[in-house]
Amino acid sequence: MTSPASSYPPGSAAFPHRDLVGIGGLAPHELLFLLDEAEQWVGFNRLSQKHDDRLAGLTIINAFFENSTRTLLSFEIAGKRLGADVVNMHAGQSSIKKGETLIDTAMTLNAMHADAIVIRHGSSGAVQLIADKVDCPVLNAGDGQHEHPTQALLDALTIRHARGRIYGLTVVICGDLLHSRVARSNILCLTSLGARVRVCAPPALMPAAIEQMKVEPFHQFDKALEGADVVMMLRLQNERMEGQFIPSPREYRHLYGLTEERLARTCPDTLVMHPGPMNRGIEIDSNVADLVDRSLITRQVEMGVAIRMACLDVLTRGVRQVEGWQ
Ligand code: CP
Repeated sequence: MTSPASSYPPGSAAFPHRDLVGIGGLAPHELLFLLDEAEQWVGFNRLSQKHDDRLAGLTIINAFFENSTRTLLSFEIAGKRLGADVVNMHAGQSSIKKGETLIDTAMTLNAMHADAIVIRHGSSGAVQLIADKVDCPVLNAGDGQHEHPTQALLDALTIRHARGRIYGLTVVICGDLLHSRVARSNILCLTSLGARVRVCAPPALMPAAIEQMKVEPFHQFDKALEGADVVMMLRLQNERMEGQFIPSPREYRHLYGLTEERLARTCPDTLVMHPGPMNRGIEIDSNVADLVDRSLITRQVEMGVAIRMACLDVLTRGVRQVEGWQ
C-alpha cells in the first residue's frame, strides 16, 4: 500500500464496476484508484476557470428522496464542471407524492436516457434496487442506514491530504453509529486502506457485533481518543430514532461531545472531522468545529466536489467508450 498507483490493473480493469452502490465489495486498489483520480480535480477546483468538457452531451440526473445540502450540490457542481447536463429531481415535487412507486420512478428516469443517475433514498437497499432496473451507471448518494460511499471516499481523501497517508493511522468515529451510513462506509473504507478504526458510542447507539467490522468498540470517549490521529464526529440522527436513545442532549454532550476541554486532553495534532450537518453544542462544540488548524470540516466539503467529479468521470467512461467519444 506504499505505492498504490503502480498496482492498478490497466485501463478499465482499474475500476470494473458499472455502479457505485457501496464501499463494501470494492478492493483496496479500486478505492485508491478513485482517490488518485480525484487528486487532479482538487487543484482544478481551486482555479478561477473550472470547466472541462469530458462529459459534454451526457445527462446526469440527481434523484434525491431525502434532504441534502452537501451531497446534492457537490454532485451538481461536479457534473457541471465536467460539462454534463445536470438535472435535479426533488422527491417532494415529484409524482412520488401522487403515489408513484420507486421502480416506476426509476423506469421513468431510464426512459429519458439518463447517462448516470445519482440517488439518495431513506431506505437501505433502494439504490441497489434502482441500479438493477436501469441501463446506466448509478451512484449512491446515501441509502437509509446502509452506505454513503462518496462521503467515505471524500473523508479518506481529506485524511490523506492532511496526513499524507491513511495506512497505519488511528481514526476514532464517535456518535450515533447505529443509524449512520457514513460510519458504515467509513469503517469499510478506512479499514480496507489500512487504518486502525475505533468506534465509540453509548450502548444504545452501538450496532450489535460491530467488532466483526474489524473495529475496536469503546463506550468511554476519552479512552477511545488516546493516541488518535483523527476523530470523526457523527450527528445524532433524531429523524431515524424511534423512542429514547439518549438520556438528554446535555448528558450526551458531557459523555460523547467533542468539547474544547476534551480535545485539549488528546494529542496536540489530533484532527477533527464531521460529515455535516452538525448539531453544534451537542456532538461537537462550535469552538472545536471552527478551529482553523485542527478542524478539517470545510476541507471535507472541498474534497467532496473532487471525489464526485472523479466518480462521475470514472463511471461514465464505459458510456463514453460505447459511443466512441473518448
Ligand atoms: N454529509 C452529507 O451527506 O451531508 P448532506 O446531507 O448535506 O448531503
